[in-house]
Amino acid sequence: MCGIVGYIGKGNVKEILLDSLQRLEYRGYDSAGIALLDTSNKIEIFKKTGRISNLRLDLHSVNSQAKMGIGHTRWATHGGVTNENAHPHFDCGNNIALVHNGIIENYNVLKNLLEKKGHKFNSETDTEILVHLIEDIYKTEKISLEESVIKALNLVQGTYGIALISSYEPNKIICARNGSPLVVGMGQNEMFVASDVNAIIPYTRNVIYLEDKEMVVINEENCNTFNLNYEKIVKPISKVEWDLEAISQNGYETFMLKEIFEQPDAMLNAMRGRVNLPEGAIKFGGLNLTEAETRDISRIIITACGTSWHAALVGEYLIETFAKIPVEVDYASEFRYRNPIIQKNDILLVISQSGETLDTLEALREAKRKGIKVLGITNVVGSTIARECDGGIYLHAGPEIGVASTKAFTNQVIVMIMLAIYLGRLKHMSFYEGQRLLNELNKIPEKVNEVLKQAEKIKAIAKKYQYAKNFLYLGRGFNYPVALEGALKLKEISYIHAEGYPAAEMKHGPIALIDENMPVVFLATTGPLYDKVISNIREVKARNGRIIAIVNQLTDDLSKYTDDVVIVPETFEEFSPLVNVVPLQLLAYYIAREKNLDVDKPRNLAKSVTVE
Ligand code: F6R
Repeated sequence: MCGIVGYIGKGNVKEILLDSLQRLEYRGYDSAGIALLDTSNKIEIFKKTGRISNLRLDLHSVNSQAKMGIGHTRWATHGGVTNENAHPHFDCGNNIALVHNGIIENYNVLKNLLEKKGHKFNSETDTEILVHLIEDIYKTEKISLEESVIKALNLVQGTYGIALISSYEPNKIICARNGSPLVVGMGQNEMFVASDVNAIIPYTRNVIYLEDKEMVVINEENCNTFNLNYEKIVKPISKVEWDLEAISQNGYETFMLKEIFEQPDAMLNAMRGRVNLPEGAIKFGGLNLTEAETRDISRIIITACGTSWHAALVGEYLIETFAKIPVEVDYASEFRYRNPIIQKNDILLVISQSGETLDTLEALREAKRKGIKVLGITNVVGSTIARECDGGIYLHAGPEIGVASTKAFTNQVIVMIMLAIYLGRLKHMSFYEGQRLLNELNKIPEKVNEVLKQAEKIKAIAKKYQYAKNFLYLGRGFNYPVALEGALKLKEISYIHAEGYPAAEMKHGPIALIDENMPVVFLATTGPLYDKVISNIREVKARNGRIIAIVNQLTDDLSKYTDDVVIVPETFEEFSPLVNVVPLQLLAYYIAREKNLDVDKPRNLAKSVTVE
């Protein structure tokens, strides 16, 4: 949510900033801007509403000799989408330029104070207050820029990831974070800063992750980190494992399509080194729980948001089935504020692709304050959630750039399956049962491949239903969360209203919506409740609904009552979400493409929601 970049070095500053911003565009795409500090130490700001490509066009003829700069891609919070509200923002004298990700909550109080002192503001943003506050402190207290930044940040309430440059002290970029991620990339006589590593992978793999309430001052050769008492801190350098290919489209028309098709490989990566078939067991490296502690777990609370919350719901069914441990699933945003009852042997499991979602992070912190262990299931290595958890499991899905989550979801479900089997094997699950399950799990990537081969068929179905105004998605048991996920995918990228329900709930209300214009997507693969789902299909058909069914075989009943079917390979009911969600991802995808929409950057959304 909002992307920040910064560069200092001998390279082409303008191009490096634009290039890095492009790779962060999935974090926000309302407007973008850069500030360049040239060899005469003058700062120029260029900003533009819309995508980075708009800004790039504007900058085409700018022949910059800059020696450093900062940039920003925005997801609007305070103030509409205008050139004025785009970042970077200047102080009164155009001597300090600042980009910000996050929200300054006490901006009104600070603004009044600064206005009384004569500061003039050009935007409606909270960010502009911060740059004027730094200017004010710098000028009145005659202290260094670093100290002024620290003083200002100590007056600010809220969240921030910031980067600033100044013609007063023109050989450095100052950055700080509290709640919004920042990473410093260390090159050869050049330094980078960014909201996440995707931005800087082509330039360097050596990075330093900032923690909350830390400030870093970078020049071409050095980077020095401080806490907000201006005490120096020594930070470890980490190596980024992802390569450039992982963040490029690789010939696919969109990132989302590439990520849907990457799912079989991503699943294999999640299982690699963890599935021990000969012993019917699972091995995890980083749970950081002893076997005794694990056996003592009396309840697992899972919190997450959006798609990750859907994976959590599948996880609830899985852990209760395989490990017989009671599970409660809560939206992270609800959990953190409802003073949840937490007992001694509870553990909290947080699920987050980005590892930066603020609600999930705060739920984690609340649970830690209450004294229980927190485990994280995240995709982004070194993300804030990954670092703050007591232990966890990485998804190994590779970077997910498309804003609508796909491969992260299936890997979250794979990880939940492995976790449930791991917990089950520590308790009552037999070796044979473990082996039976893992044997089937190993076959899932190939089964997903079989579904992907039907992309053209699903595209034809999408064409047929592209004009529908509403959709219903219905599934039962393990496939109820899949129905929710299918509906969310369609809403996000095609802007068609869609609802997911447990199939049997339909008759308690949603059935009133059904008529000849309502497509209803049924998850009707085999399982103990299969016959009941078939009854639900009949109920919809009796009311002239149009039925798209995901099935394992086309029985007489199904061919009689359905309008379109996608036949997917059969698997255990517990694993079926992994196979069944794929046609729903493709259906949403092709409907959005038929409507000519930008599926990688749907309107109003951003990857990694770092505000409340
Ligand atoms: C849906 C989607 C969002 C995220 C949610 C949580 O396609 O991408 O609903 O799932 O914002 O994000 P993470 O998993 O990064 O915490």
